[in-house]
Amino acid sequence: MRLILPKMAVIIKLDITYCQRRRIDVKKKSYPLSKVYGLLETGPVVLVSTAYKKRSNIMTMSWHTMLEFEPPLVGCVISNRNRTFDILRKTGECVINIPTVELTEKVVACGNTHGDKVDKFKTYTLTPRSARMVASPLIDECYANLECRVADRRMIRAYNLFILEVLKAWIKPTGNIPKTIHHHGRGNFSVAGKIIAFPSKMK
Ligand SMILES: Cc1cc2nc3c(=O)[nH]c(=O)nc-3n(C[C@H](O)[C@H](O)[C@H](O)COP(=O)(O)O)c2cc1C
Repeated sequence: MRLILPKMAVIIKLDITYCQRRRIDVKKKSYPLSKVYGLLETGPVVLVSTAYKKRSNIMTMSWHTMLEFEPPLVGCVISNRNRTFDILRKTGECVINIPTVELTEKVVACGNTHGDKVDKFKTYTLTPRSARMVASPLIDECYANLECRVADRRMIRAYNLFILEVLKAWIKPTGNIPKTIHHHGRGNFSVAGKIIAFPSKMK
């Protein structure tokens, strides 16, 4: 009995802490699952450029995530209703272009039109430049461009998830912190730009 009592005391203490935490949480509102993506989808919003049979295309994308430092691997969810999905699956190549806030209108336009109906480079006056490692064009107006090749196709069928390896990266050496745009869902964006530094063991 003596041995059991202290254990019970611990259990009761933990229970109280749990209740206290629950009470604080009650002040929060329930959030619709249909909007959860807007909490995690912090971007930056990018433009994926592809090329097939001498025709180039651009798609806006915010569902992407880093998977590895070096060689850099990026996971990208690209809907199979998009033309980009078909081209990327056929060619295995694309460029991830990172735009800044001045390009927001064009970014939204590229995300609301399909490449089989619109030549987005011409219509939205964006400039294609030759890449070094892939046939897809770089978008000159973007501050950074990542030439990518599909590294793993295993999750395309189940999740429309392409694992891309970055083969070559380009950046405009402006010296300024890039004002990238970050999607919060339903046409709402925040703009990055302020950097706060803390000591970190991360690379
Ligand atoms: C801010 C924004 C973010 C988007 N993110 C994605 C995304 O991550 N994946 C996706 O498949 N479509 C995304 N879209 C939708 C595509 O960009 C859109 O369907 C586009 O018309 C596809 O072009 P395409 O058919 O020429 O490839 C996004 C659109 C916007 C406006």
